[in-house]
Formats: sequence, C-alpha cells, structure tokens
Amino acid sequence: MELCKLDVGLEKYIYLDPETNFWAYADVSEEKDVLRLFKDVRDELLKEMLKCRFEVRIRTVYLNVTDRCNANCPYCYIPEYRRKNGVTMKKEELYSYLNEFLEKGVEWVIFHGAEPMIAKNLIFDAMDDFSELKFGVQTNGFLLEEEDVKFLINRGVNIGISFDSPYREVEDFLRGKGHYDKVMEVLEFCGGYDRFSVITTINKYNFTHLDKMVDLLAGKVPVLLMNIVRGTSETGRVLRVDASEQFIKAVERAINHTKNGRRIVIGDFANYLLGILAPSARVLQCDVSPCGAGRRFISLATDGFYPCSEFVGLKEFRVKDFDSAVKTFENVRNRTVEKIEECRDCPLRNICGSPCPAEVYSEYGTFFKKSPSCDYYKRVIEHAFRVLVRGDYKYILKMENLKEKFSWV
Ligand SMILES: C[S@@+](CC[C@H](N)C(=O)[O-])C[C@H]1O[C@@H](n2cnc3c(N)ncnc32)[C@H](O)[C@@H]1O
Ligand code: SF4
Ligand code: SF4
Repeated sequence: MELCKLDVGLEKYIYLDPETNFWAYADVSEEKDVLRLFKDVRDELLKEMLKCRFEVRIRTVYLNVTDRCNANCPYCYIPEYRRKNGVTMKKEELYSYLNEFLEKGVEWVIFHGAEPMIAKNLIFDAMDDFSELKFGVQTNGFLLEEEDVKFLINRGVNIGISFDSPYREVEDFLRGKGHYDKVMEVLEFCGGYDRFSVITTINKYNFTHLDKMVDLLAGKVPVLLMNIVRGTSETGRVLRVDASEQFIKAVERAINHTKNGRRIVIGDFANYLLGILAPSARVLQCDVSPCGAGRRFISLATDGFYPCSEFVGLKEFRVKDFDSAVKTFENVRNRTVEKIEECRDCPLRNICGSPCPAEVYSEYGTFFKKSPSCDYYKRVIEHAFRVLVRGDYKYILKMENLKEKFSWV
C-alpha cells in the first residue's frame, strides 16, 4: 500500500491516496503512522467513494423550456442558431414531462436555458401547479422584475443569476447592454435571500476582475460560482485563459471578507475542499468522475433529452424519451479518469475529475482526453490543500448551507 507524496509548498508533505482521497499532512518521519491509519480506514473509504462516483440516480432535471435567448454572450455553449430561431415548449408538453418526472422520482427541476424568463408565465404556472417538485431558475436576469423575485422567494425557488464583471463596460460587452445595471437591481430585489447565487464565467476579458467581483458581492450573495469558460464552442475556446492565480486571489479575498463578517463562498472552491474532506458530500458534480451528467441529473430541451445542458449543441447525444436517455447516457457515464491516459496516474484525479466531457468531445471528437484546463485545476486543488492545512476551510464550508443551496445535484 502506497500513498502519493505531494509538495504543495508547505513545510510538510501531503500524503494522498487517489482512490479514496484519504490524505494526511505529514513529514517523512511520520510516514509509517500515516500508512497504518490508512490501512485501517481504506476499505470503508473506498466503498463510500465508489458509491458516490458510480451511483445512478436522476434527482434533477435541467429544463430548457425555450431555445430562445434575449442576449448573445460570446462563449455560450447553446448554439446561436438555436437561440435565435428556436421554439418554446407548449404548456401541455411541459406538464406532461413534469408529471412523468414526478413518477420517476425526480425531485428538482431547474429552469435553465437559453433564457427561461422569456417563458416566465409558463414556468411560474408550472411552479404553482407542481408544488410537489422543488424548483430553481438560472437566468441572465434581464426580464426579472421585483414582483417576479417576490413570487420566487415566496415559493422558496433557488435563483441563479449570471454576472461576469464588476466593471459596467466589460459586463455590458460580455452579457449585453444594460446588464450591469439590471444585475444591480436584482441584487437589491434578492437582498438577504439565502437561495440566491451568482455564476461568473471566467474568460479572458474578466479573469483579472475576480477579486473585485468578490468585493462587490460579499455580504450580498451567499454563493458565487466562478466557472472557467468551457471550450464547447469555437468562441468558447478562443476565450479560455489560465486564471488560476486570479482565482486563488479571489478565494483569499472571499476568506477575508467572511472573517470580517461579510460572508461569501466561492462554490467551486468549496467543492474541492469537500472532494478532499468528504467526497460523497460534494454538491457540484463536474469534478466527480464520472461527472453527474446522465447519472445524477439530465437535461431536457425542446427537442429531447441530453446528458447535461453543455451537450445541447451536440445532436448526436439527443434521445427522445426519459428511460432510454438514462440508459443511453451510459456512454457519458463511461468516461472515468481511469480511462483517460493522461489522468490515469494523476494523484488529483478524484478531486479534479477532468471535466468536462462535452467540452473535451467538442474539441477532440473523443471523451478520452484530459481536460483542456488541467493546469488550472491542479493549481487550484493544490491551494485547496494549503487552505485546509492552515485551517481556513471553516470560513468556506458551512456545509448545511451549501447542501441546502445545491441539494438538487
Ligand atoms: C447557458 S446559460 C442559461 C441560463 C441563462 N441564460 C443564463 O445566462 O444564466 C447558464 C450558464 O452557463 C454559462 N455558460 C454559457 N456558456 C458557457 C461556457 N462555454 N462555459 C462555461 N459556462 C458557460 C452562462 O454564463 C450561464 O451562467
Ligand atoms: S449564457 Fe445565457 S444569456 Fe448568455 S447567450 Fe447563453 S443562454 Fe443567453
Ligand atoms: S485533468 Fe489534469 S489534474 Fe485533472 S485528473 Fe487529469 S491530469 Fe489530473
């Protein structure tokens, strides 16, 4: 039995077992004790890890009621022809799907898109008529008015807003004219609501703004997801950037604000900490291998089912009905880090997960290549170990909050 020995720039080493994510901070003289402890707990940890990696249970549907969007973000993984010419589901069609989901044990429906608020009357009716389901809405916010927010808050709906830069000029360039001002308004509407989150898509126009973004949102937004742009489309690939240094700076800024009473959690980083401390408590599923696509969640668009929203531009993955979709998406569930040559022996493989299959497939025509953002993930995960060792994880992980917030995955 051997453990990987990682030097993350601290006094001692990180001893890590990549199969179970058992880890210890120790020096060479303590190695034997660490190994003894590992031997005692290995089987139990492995059992838990295999369950959380391979269990197939669709609890969540990301539902694109419309293909259409009122914006045109340059990196969007939904193809432009769909956003410009697409259709919107009819009420009977949507209701028939929602009835089926209830029968199949789905618990969460997240209205996603393209832009779900274009069909706000339809989705609000559905929220009223299917009170057995839990709902979320991920929106650019352009069409979100104060009474809409009140409606959503009254029903305990999770609200996610996209917001890329604390600078008006950059925000309006990336997300559409007037977006910055609209987001400022939405922040006021949602003030104090704990089921509120923001997604920042990191790209080459905003990666130097991440710390300022944290400054702006601290104390106002409980969870901020800072996702590196995926190269699912050519335009996405052009906007990719190695932002590890800036992301780490943003993480440190968030920790400082939280220490000073203006709490904010960067969800992606929190998920890495969970991957190391308690892998089966991970909330986001992109860094689990295989990821959650077609395993923990599924995506429904106007023309059928896809493993995840990021696949919506890839017609070859479309399946017509729910049961066949879950079966067919074994193709995506088969993409494990063990099957990727560059990842197979990587010590961080079960913390990173080598995301994302849709991105890798779009770029290389195969699932079995490592993530194009490999270096970024390595640096960020090494930092996660440093934060753990110095004890600052307690300013990030408020487990109950995170679990509640993202309990749909
Ligand atoms: C596709 S949009 C759909 C919902 C809504 N229109 C919105 O913008 O929030 C959902 C999220 O995906 C993000 N997104 C779009 N394309 C992306 C890409 N290539 N890589 C990473 N995130 C992306 C958006 O920034 C947004 O936060
Ligand atoms: S990211 Fe959202 S708002 Fe932007 S173009 Fe895509 S669907 Fe529209
Ligand atoms: S993408 Fe890179 S960091 Fe992630 S598992 Fe593969 S080799 Fe490791």
